[in-house]
Amino acid sequence: MNSLSAAASGTFRIAGDLPVYRLGYGTMRLVGEGAWGEPTDPAEARRVLRCAVELGVTLIDTADAYGPEIAERLIAEALHPYPAGLVIATKGGITRQGPARTEYVGRAGYLIQCVEMSLRRLKLDCIELYQLHRIDPRTPLEESLGALVQMQQQGKIRHIGLSEVTLGEIEAAQKTVSIVSVQNRYSLADRRHEATLTWCAERGIAFLPWYPMAAGKMFKQDHPLQQTLARVAAAHEATAAQVSLAWLLQRSPVLLPIPGTSKVAHLEENVAAVALRLTPDEFSALEAASC
Ligand SMILES: NC(=O)c1ccc[n+]([C@@H]2O[C@H](COP(=O)([O-])OP(=O)(O)OC[C@H]3O[C@@H](n4cnc5c(N)ncnc54)[C@H](OP(=O)(O)O)[C@@H]3O)[C@@H](O)[C@H]2O)c1
Repeated sequence: MNSLSAAASGTFRIAGDLPVYRLGYGTMRLVGEGAWGEPTDPAEARRVLRCAVELGVTLIDTADAYGPEIAERLIAEALHPYPAGLVIATKGGITRQGPARTEYVGRAGYLIQCVEMSLRRLKLDCIELYQLHRIDPRTPLEESLGALVQMQQQGKIRHIGLSEVTLGEIEAAQKTVSIVSVQNRYSLADRRHEATLTWCAERGIAFLPWYPMAAGKMFKQDHPLQQTLARVAAAHEATAAQVSLAWLLQRSPVLLPIPGTSKVAHLEENVAAVALRLTPDEFSALEAASC
């Protein structure tokens, strides 16, 4: 398949007023192993970011916890001044103490500092989508959200989203603030948040599936999905990665996949998935094989 523009994935309007092409790009894989430290190949990391924009991607997902700070810094180094229409969605509320070692912190003062530092690193005056990375069980949700509302009132955040939340938590948050997006783990290999996706679809709330390719695990020989993915991929002269992304794009119009990669070649392959149309039989076979 030739690489195509992410524009072919269609447009979704976050909160009704922030248009993005549905296939985005996630930056967690740009940094070191376990989201800790500098990239192994910093020049390739910057190439990936520039290539994403060249391929029409208008939604880039990041977080201050990727590196920490490094993914946001790379985005600014590679892409600032930003092209019109590029939405950089970042997150705060997870601290990182080492590779894959995290602690959630939702205190108001900390989150306000997170927003200020993300603005500085990203060289932005306003973050168009700011997502609470995790709800801190030791901090009242109203306190965390209150801090983000304060930032919103000051014009430093345009819209607020949540990450890895239950339906009950989204409904509780909606009492304090308008939640425009949910970023939960979701893929053919993990459908635990199916009810939340349905809920978001009914309300036109964006759902950003993280681990949209199960971090690459579903392409491995011993994975239960591998054979079905390979059979469908062969029928389209495509790859298993493209099939997994095409399924997400066809599954629901509110799904905005943000596949992560540290390599230009994988990025091109992933964006080219926008051209793949699964037949009803293929879609059903993938649904039946999904976990
Ligand atoms: N909200 C949250 O709590 C949360 C948690 C995790 C991630 N996220 C976000 O979600 C994004 C996506 O998740 P993810 O990056 O962890 O997982 P993913 O997109 O499911 O998979 C990324 C992995 O798949 C590999 N890969 C990418 N394209 C491929 C291709 N075409 N063929 C074969 N392998 C391929 C990548 O390796 P290469 O680098 O070698 O391509 C990487 O190891 C992240 O980047 C981040 O922005 C959010």
